[in-house]
Amino acid sequence: MPLVYVTRRLHFSAAHRLHSDQLSAQENEQVYGLCNNPLGHGHNYELEVTVQGIPDPVNGIVVDLKELKKVIESEIIDLVDHKHLNYEVEFMRGIVPTAENIAVAFWNQLKDKLPSGRLYEIKLYETPRNIAVYRGE
Ligand code: NI
Repeated sequence: MPLVYVTRRLHFSAAHRLHSDQLSAQENEQVYGLCNNPLGHGHNYELEVTVQGIPDPVNGIVVDLKELKKVIESEIIDLVDHKHLNYEVEFMRGIVPTAENIAVAFWNQLKDKLPSGRLYEIKLYETPRNIAVYRGE
């Protein structure tokens, strides 16, 4: 049985501020640098969601990409696009919105909502060069 990985890529823009309440002001500045700017800043994020599964023997499909897109939009994109991740997103409340933490939060939003297949990977491009990957462990 061939195990196949199917990826849907989506885009959103959002603002964030990297700041941990468990660090002093000086430590926050040291760790996060410019990303600690009090009023926040924005990114054009790219999100890749990968689903694994065995293609259906009749239709050859692991997951219907139109359905997958709809679920990712309703569970993630519609809630974060053009929002400030520190203040406006219920499922990210209390989380420092690093790319790492965002990837984990997105995984939790999506893992039980797929139309078929199994969630394999969340890959979040904060910039073309800064990327976080989460596989649920
Ligand atoms: Ni940033």
